[in-house]
Amino acid sequence: MLDEKVMPTAWYNVMPDLKNPPAPPLGPDGNPIGPEALAPIFPMACIMQEVSTDRFIDIPGAVLDVYKTYRPSPLIRARQLERVLGLPEGVKIFYKYEGVSPAGSHKPNTAIPQAYYNKQEGITKIATETGAGQWGSALAIAGAFFGIDVEVFMVKVSYEQKPYRRILMETYGAAVHASPTNLTEAGRHVLAMDPNSTGSLGIAISEAVEVAAKNADTHYSLGSVLNHVCLHQTIIGEEAILQMALAEAEPDVVIGCVGGGSNFAGISFPYYKRKLEGKSNARLVAVEPKACPTLTAGEYRYDVGDEAGMTPQMLMYTLGHEFVPAGIHAGGLRYHGDSPLVSQLVHEGEAEAVAVNQIECFEAAVQFARAEGILPAPESSHAIRVAIDEAVAAQLAGQDKTILFNLSGHGNFDLAAYAAYNAGELQDYDFSAGTTLHE
Ligand SMILES: Cc1ncc(COP(=O)(O)O)c(C=O)c1O
Repeated sequence: MLDEKVMPTAWYNVMPDLKNPPAPPLGPDGNPIGPEALAPIFPMACIMQEVSTDRFIDIPGAVLDVYKTYRPSPLIRARQLERVLGLPEGVKIFYKYEGVSPAGSHKPNTAIPQAYYNKQEGITKIATETGAGQWGSALAIAGAFFGIDVEVFMVKVSYEQKPYRRILMETYGAAVHASPTNLTEAGRHVLAMDPNSTGSLGIAISEAVEVAAKNADTHYSLGSVLNHVCLHQTIIGEEAILQMALAEAEPDVVIGCVGGGSNFAGISFPYYKRKLEGKSNARLVAVEPKACPTLTAGEYRYDVGDEAGMTPQMLMYTLGHEFVPAGIHAGGLRYHGDSPLVSQLVHEGEAEAVAVNQIECFEAAVQFARAEGILPAPESSHAIRVAIDEAVAAQLAGQDKTILFNLSGHGNFDLAAYAAYNAGELQDYDFSAGTTLHE
């Protein structure tokens, strides 16, 4: 545990430290867009963070106060897991546990500042999408904290798999719809092409952006991908660096699961900085599902962030914005694109990417739960899988290794997924099991 008195008070912005300047977002005409183009849907403070070249950005006092209700989050040595795996003393596994937040994941780290900045601008309502329901829950509670209405478009497959997430959001005061809906043009367009669509994050984003664009008092909020979201998450890695120092350990590998990239950014960007300073040699490993292998099988090119093409084009790894991944239980990892900043680090060889199957992730999750007691979110289980694989590989090679992974959330609302796994009903899907929407 870190004392709250030494909790970091500024977020780390990776942009000035990248090898190459980040490529600008492009508008529909293919020309770079300026901050004013985003003003109808985002607060100016977030837009300025999106393009900031300041290495550190102060966390507002009101945000720090709310952060302190659950931060600093613990960093835990997984001694019981090490014992169960039979690892030698030289192979160590640590995890940073973000499931202690009110929503049960890292997502409030950005929901809280986003709600705060919107409140500062007099916005009364925020529309958003959610996959697993973690992000929607985070924004719902952040909206409740700051007195802002929240409307959530929840990917239909998750809406059906995770009714308790919906109830949590509604209890926090949010309105929740199963996306695609008939409430927006984007939703109606998808339903016309595929009435049985299980939805995707790309479709849900289109719906939420449309609501924000059409209502002056409403903004849109994204729970991942964008630079300011990754920025807000860096508190994870900043704390982890201080905590690893308390444990007198330095990671050889830093691991995070990747949907849109924000929790991986959160744990890894501060380590990227540490590497530039010559204080770390850690490998940075991003883990994604084989059903949605954006970083490992996608193309590095400009693409829009949503299905209907309402968002700017960004340079990132993408499977194409019309790609709808198979309905794996890690709903938060079913996204066709990835954070441009995470994509750039992978493209420049500064971070590695690996894709894993659903069933092997649940095996790792159950092994972890039985050893450490925490039931991981299906998304986070991807990081656990690779952490265990790294540990076992080091043991077999007779090497010492210190592994740090981000346990991005708990899975207490994901019991339907565990029930399916326990009953042997899960299956693995690869990329080809997804579908592509066409006109
Ligand atoms: C627990 C958890 N981990 C990870 C993710 C993936 O998102 P990101 O890549 O932005 O961290 C999600 C998304 O919903 C999530 O709920």
